[in-house]
Amino acid sequence: MDRPISTTLHDFTPATKAFYDDVVAGLNRRPRSLPCKYFYDERGSQLFDQICDLDEYYLTRVELEIMRQNADQMAKQIGPGVMLVEYGSGSSVKTRLLLEHLQSPVAYVAVDISRDHLHQNANDLARQYPAVEILPVSADFTEDFDLPVPTDVPTHNAVYFPGSTIGNFEPDAAQAMLAKIVSLCGCRGGLLIGIDLQKESSVIEAAYNDSAGVTAEFNLNLLGRINRELDADIDVDQFEHRAFYDESLGRMEIYLVSRTEQTFVIGQESFGVAAGETIHTEYSHKYTIAGFSELASRAGLTLRRHWTDGQDRFAVLHFAVLE
Ligand code: AVJ
Repeated sequence: MDRPISTTLHDFTPATKAFYDDVVAGLNRRPRSLPCKYFYDERGSQLFDQICDLDEYYLTRVELEIMRQNADQMAKQIGPGVMLVEYGSGSSVKTRLLLEHLQSPVAYVAVDISRDHLHQNANDLARQYPAVEILPVSADFTEDFDLPVPTDVPTHNAVYFPGSTIGNFEPDAAQAMLAKIVSLCGCRGGLLIGIDLQKESSVIEAAYNDSAGVTAEFNLNLLGRINRELDADIDVDQFEHRAFYDESLGRMEIYLVSRTEQTFVIGQESFGVAAGETIHTEYSHKYTIAGFSELASRAGLTLRRHWTDGQDRFAVLHFAVLE
């Protein structure tokens, strides 16, 4: 049967073409893998919001508790007259806690790939904080991007990187990411970052294997997204979610596992996977405070202060750029 495949591929936007190229490259690689940044289409973002409300997923709840209890100290630590640059669209209560406690912040920059979220949240923030210049930047913060120039001159720049998103990067890439933050912030710059801490593996594993199956659906949605956007015919039900903690590497490893031997088509490429074959989709690294500050120091940052919850599950760290 004729399928207008090439027409479909030519109709791809640059973003969809990049998604297609990354998916095909990842599935042709051994071990097979797909980049976790593609989890967050509209459905994936909804599912992630649901994950954050799960009892088992302590990360979001605990980070927010740390922010609520220490936002005043964090703001003092960051200092007056800052241009605050958040990696993420700044929709959260955490952002507002910081903005409310900072002393005369000059500007707030939200950096996010999703244009819709970015501009909606920027409008809301502009209304709520009329004294702060709100500057949305539509960019992938894993790539290089330029900081906007605010109307008033800030005393310094500080990056806010919440949510333990840095955990998705392997240590070398995390260090490179921190080095980019250092060059973006320049001298007198700072970084306030949330990281998930190493702990008993049963607690960590439960957070990624919730009893309601939301995390499984979140992982499997990546295949659904490939079907929806890339002219693919993957039988999503023939895959399952697998997530386990590797204690020696301090990381969650998340995979999609094929339930059977199967073939599928994505655009012009066809793929065959064996029963039990895995596709790696995500790492979520857990750190100790000492381990993370060691990594950060190799990127040119020095730990100034940190805050944790009563059970040491999560930490928020403030670093300064080494002079
Ligand atoms: C958004 C990267 C912090 O690693 O815990 C949640 C993503 N994946 N459940 C994490 C995620 C599965 C999350 N981060």
